[in-house]
Amino acid sequence: MSKRNFYITTPIYYPSGKPHMGHAYSSIIADVFARFKRLDNFNVYFLTGTDEHGLKIQREAKKNNKDPKLFCDELSNTFKKLTKSLNLSNNDFIRTTEKRHHESVKEIWQRLEKSGDIYLDKYSGWYSVSDEAYYDDDEILNENGIKKSKASGSIVEWVEEESYFFKLSAWQNKLIKFYENNPNFILPASRKKEVINFVKKGLKDLSVSRTSFSWGIQVPNNDKHVIYVWLDALTNYISALKFPNTKDKLYKEFWPADLHIIGKDILRFHAIYWPAFLLAAKLETPNRVYGHGWILSDEKKMSKSLGNILDPLEIIKNYGVDQLRYYLIKEVSLGNDGSISLENLRNCINNDLANNFGNLCQRVLSFVEKNCNSKIPVPEKYDNRDNELSNEIVQKLPKLKEMMDNQELNSYVKEVINFSFNSNKYFNDLEPWNLKKSNLSRMNTVLYCILNQIKSISILLYPIMPNSIEKNIQLMGLKKEDISLHNVENLNLLKPGNSIKKGDILFKKIDSE
Ligand code: ME8
Ligand code: MG
Repeated sequence: MSKRNFYITTPIYYPSGKPHMGHAYSSIIADVFARFKRLDNFNVYFLTGTDEHGLKIQREAKKNNKDPKLFCDELSNTFKKLTKSLNLSNNDFIRTTEKRHHESVKEIWQRLEKSGDIYLDKYSGWYSVSDEAYYDDDEILNENGIKKSKASGSIVEWVEEESYFFKLSAWQNKLIKFYENNPNFILPASRKKEVINFVKKGLKDLSVSRTSFSWGIQVPNNDKHVIYVWLDALTNYISALKFPNTKDKLYKEFWPADLHIIGKDILRFHAIYWPAFLLAAKLETPNRVYGHGWILSDEKKMSKSLGNILDPLEIIKNYGVDQLRYYLIKEVSLGNDGSISLENLRNCINNDLANNFGNLCQRVLSFVEKNCNSKIPVPEKYDNRDNELSNEIVQKLPKLKEMMDNQELNSYVKEVINFSFNSNKYFNDLEPWNLKKSNLSRMNTVLYCILNQIKSISILLYPIMPNSIEKNIQLMGLKKEDISLHNVENLNLLKPGNSIKKGDILFKKIDSE
């Protein structure tokens, strides 16, 4: 079967400070989808990176008495390390300060100029450096004399300078038509409504260059101007595929993107500006933008400016990376905001991982080690109960794939954990320790059946907890290459007579403090 392609991206991060849980969350979600599609035999390209230009970074560098490029080199590296700590399977890590990206941005600019979508004028209005966003008068509130964005709460400043504009207003009706023709372009549905309402209210032309600072990509043929950081940043998604070389294998295989994972705060840029830029540049538009919710701590968005940061690296050190990945995916309903806490993290590890799935693996593998001489037993014919258990997962597999294609991640996890719960129940009900005395061949059949369940559940959990699952799969005498959705359906993958090992406890229980 020929491979189908799948291109998925995370937002590229502002390297303006330490990575926090919100960054980790965006990345982990994308990684889970990327890994799942690979298990389904897709040729996956997964991109992440850093967004290094603009006034926000320039000011942050200055505050630290550093040259902006050197400042970015250091912090971009911190984010690159984060991808390793989170065990991301990204194929590339792009930096917007790289030459390949500069060429790509200049080309898109020239295409927009050529199509007549860019003109020179003067901008006067509000700008938030923290959001790198322009705001209208009606999007601003006055808090004790300080002007702030209603949406993000960040401080805005008045800007008046010569600027190039992108004729966004001309794209209003075409965008509405585009959303109608592509009903799943923006998900979840609540976000889509938000965007369509905003566009219907009317779009103003967008300032796409600045003259009052220099940290950015220069406008071709007018070096007084640097290109607006969002036009610059969004283009990273095609720079990584070798744009402007649209004949390149990477570009041809992977553009348009299948899925941009982003947080809801940057929806406007991805769901309005980005398709408008692409349509104007006569390039294909991505298939989907999924805007996830915010990770909250004390009901507030976790962010550097608010100073309420739960450090992902600290949690990984204390609890493990798979534990963090599982917790974020399970606990926060994708698309909605979700609060996280250490107490909930511990409960989640204990209930789902230690007591449920971990316990299943531990008790079955140690039983086989003790009673079957550490060998996979030879099964006899399955009875109804055995068939019921093993068919459950096989029959749900198409549904599970559909859930993942619709980004219904929480439903997916719920199903998988339920399989584990049912398998524990089967083991308890059939009491292989009693069968050992009364009916040895029946005991072997029951053990084979449940080992097969553990194999299948492991494969389905792999995208969320790759490290632990890989270990678990190896304990069962299987190889990393065996981890595929195809093998969820394969009820004969485990070879009777092959050795298995109990190993260490997969997920340790956490004592509450
Ligand atoms: O926005 N909860 O970068 P960024 C959940 N450079 N997600 C959060 C979050 C939170 N508390 N805080 C941040 C940028 N995020 C741009 C992207 S893409 C061409 C350019 C998410 O470092 C946020 O929603 O500010 C975004 O998706 C990502 O982290 C990066 O945020
Ligand atoms: Mg941000």
